[in-house]
Amino acid sequence: MTIIVTGGAGFIGSNFVFHMLSRYPDYRVVCLDKLTYAGNLSTLKGVMDNPNFRFVKADICDREAVFQLFEEEKPDIVVNFAAESHVDRSIEDPGIFLRTNILGTQTLMDACCRYGVTRYHQVSTDEVYGDLPLDRPDLFFTETTPIHTSSPYSASKASADLLVLAYHRTYGLPVSISRCSNNYGPYHFPEKLIPLMIANCLNDKPLPVYGDGLNVRDWLYVEDHCKAIDLIIHKGRVGEVYNIGGHNEMRNIDIVRLICKALNKPESLITYVADRKGHDMRYAIDPTKIHNELGWLPETMFKDGIVKTIQWYLDHREWWEEIISGEYRNYYEKMYTNR
Ligand code: NAD
Ligand code: TYD
Repeated sequence: MTIIVTGGAGFIGSNFVFHMLSRYPDYRVVCLDKLTYAGNLSTLKGVMDNPNFRFVKADICDREAVFQLFEEEKPDIVVNFAAESHVDRSIEDPGIFLRTNILGTQTLMDACCRYGVTRYHQVSTDEVYGDLPLDRPDLFFTETTPIHTSSPYSASKASADLLVLAYHRTYGLPVSISRCSNNYGPYHFPEKLIPLMIANCLNDKPLPVYGDGLNVRDWLYVEDHCKAIDLIIHKGRVGEVYNIGGHNEMRNIDIVRLICKALNKPESLITYVADRKGHDMRYAIDPTKIHNELGWLPETMFKDGIVKTIQWYLDHREWWEEIISGEYRNYYEKMYTNR
């Protein structure tokens, strides 16, 4: 069995590569990644020498490179994590989101149609459903909730989802789609809420909370997401969408306070800054379908996962310090100075 994992040098993709190599010692895992600002080869150093692993630096929009790789590897399964993934960046510059997230998906699926695969899996997001109001805690996203996007990021992911379903119906490509809630855990790029707050706390820097901090996200430990995708690609039904989430809703401000407490830093570091444009209020997944059909349940509770995650950032300072001292510093200054 050969699996191409795109975006495997990023946060969730790398965790998925580790999961697959350790769970299936007889599988060949080929990582295709452009190594954008978000992709980090050092993340993969522990598997580079594994004979079942191959890393290829390429853009999923590069037809020639993608078709060449399919010609060489003849993959059975393709799991597409490669994407521009940060909402704030999509507000600044939507173009690259449309290119990578939509056209890149098309290129991969064209290669799948040409060479034949048993499954093309699209890693999508709960953000395609838009947001829920704070005063309706009874509402959750199900797989039949209408697509209703807010940001260029979520619009590009929703467009890709529609294209994936169209390739299934039109060309009979055996696809599946997963829509997961916010992930956290090791190798999370420090532009995202949880790692950004951990890194700033450790450097005694202000903790920038957007708006009033009352926005709610539904957090899932990254390993649980990887296990869900593993189940879907092996046992999930072709042509189906599966929501993934662990019913763990938290307000942003409560997460930031919790991180301060865990690191023994004063809450006076918290700084309220201008809100994100079009900021989604609440995400909340109903995971009944994947639970009933595939028996998936989250295994790591937030109270344990967040402790493990904070410890990981304490133990891997060199990983994130290298990132925040490089090109990323310009982004941080642009986004947060005088905000
Ligand atoms: P990430 O930004 O950490 O990693 C993205 C990876 O894709 C990087 O390694 C990057 O180099 C690579 N990449 C970007 N453009 C590429 C291109 N054109 N060609 C090849 N590689 C390219 O993202 P992540 O948080 O790991 O998210 C992975 C996927 O999961 C994305 O599709 C995202 O939409 C989805 N998702 C993320 C979350 C979350 O909480 N992070 C939740 C649900 C779904
Ligand atoms: P983020 O990690 O960017 O994920 P997403 O927007 O895809 O859910 O942000 C999570 C929440 O945290 C979101 O409501 C925005 C908020 N946020 C801040 O308040 N401050 C920050 O510096 C960042 C990056 C996010």
